[in-house]
Amino acid sequence: MKKPMENLFSDSANKLKVSVIRELLKLTLKPEVISFAGGLPNPDAFPVQQIHEITPGVIGNTNALQYGTTEGVPELRGALKKRMATKNVKCEVENIQITSGSQQALDILGRILLNPNDLILTTCPTYLGAIQAFGFQDPRYELVDMDEHSVIVEDLEARLEDIYKRGDNKRLKFFYVTPTFHNPAGVTIPEKRRKEIMELCNTYDVLIIEDDPYGELRYRGKDQPLLKSLDTEDRVIYLSTFSKILVPGFRIAWMVAPTELVKKFVMAKQAVDLCTTTFTQYIGAEYLNKGHVDQHIEKIKEIYGRKMQIMLQSMAEYFPEEAEYAEPDGGMFVWVRLPEHINTIEIFPQVVEKNVAYVVGSAFYPNGKGLNTMRLNFTHPSDEKIEEGIKRLGNVLHQILEK
Ligand SMILES: Cc1ncc(COP(=O)(O)O)c(C=O)c1O
Repeated sequence: MKKPMENLFSDSANKLKVSVIRELLKLTLKPEVISFAGGLPNPDAFPVQQIHEITPGVIGNTNALQYGTTEGVPELRGALKKRMATKNVKCEVENIQITSGSQQALDILGRILLNPNDLILTTCPTYLGAIQAFGFQDPRYELVDMDEHSVIVEDLEARLEDIYKRGDNKRLKFFYVTPTFHNPAGVTIPEKRRKEIMELCNTYDVLIIEDDPYGELRYRGKDQPLLKSLDTEDRVIYLSTFSKILVPGFRIAWMVAPTELVKKFVMAKQAVDLCTTTFTQYIGAEYLNKGHVDQHIEKIKEIYGRKMQIMLQSMAEYFPEEAEYAEPDGGMFVWVRLPEHINTIEIFPQVVEKNVAYVVGSAFYPNGKGLNTMRLNFTHPSDEKIEEGIKRLGNVLHQILEK
């Protein structure tokens, strides 16, 4: 008799559970639902015309149709070295690794850095995709609190002291953080705190993974320095992606990391996919080299900046006072905290019944907390739908809170 499939799955595969969130999101698929749940860029912000112009030349280059090196196409790595220099990050081409999305970088970093039971320091909440990627290695988490200016440095210091006091520092592998326009919390670490964080990580000898998919999407306020640009000890692994400044479907992203780490990363990536799609890497290189990117980022900022403004104005008008949120200066999300007694999983069906949806915030807590929180995306819905959706959500929250 044939063995049941679950007897064949590995222990880590058997730990993968059907996500409650995915099940909830199925409810939002009806066309009449205005969804703030996804994390998708808006197709209006895709540089379709530039891609049309670049693609014929790339097709004419057979290298773009061939396997490439695991490290990435030299033209793209070279263009990224120049781009990183404009952000005050000096590195060599050897430090730049192309990945199939930053999601792959998180997965491979987990594979090469983590043993089961190792400790990851991260913010509370943190990026769900990172929890999923690192989850295969069965790590433990030490969680750092955030406020409207992101990481609370005193809490980071207290966590580090505690880790050292209990001798867990040998198991501490890295601090994973999205310093700019955090997903899901929307907040950004100001320069002073960035410097303090770097100092603490130097003192306590902690590797940092700086995940920066949204840094270019600033709609107001002043740019903050990358942690990588403040890194004097080569302890920051920097990740960024073309998903938000070109298109996510190309699956191209990059990592800037110490040479020894890149070498190990390449060995692991060979086992995963041999190389990132060469065709889209060549398009990415041309997009940078022809100078399209900065022009196009301005267009994206115009579209998303307007959408963010509409969402924030609508929230000010329609949301109950008890709903707290920090206004972001960029990125794709607004993070909302409701009174403690409200559970956003429990109220979800009532909200979807009004044809509007969010992502439940507890998905972003490795410790299962944050039951009173939700994440709202403002980049994907149309301008009209943002206002209408926030009005519906505000009305149903009023009703729930009045009960
Ligand atoms: C914080 C963060 N890191 C990584 C990723 C993955 O991006 P990519 O499309 O490059 O895989 C995302 C995607 O939304 C993200 O929000």
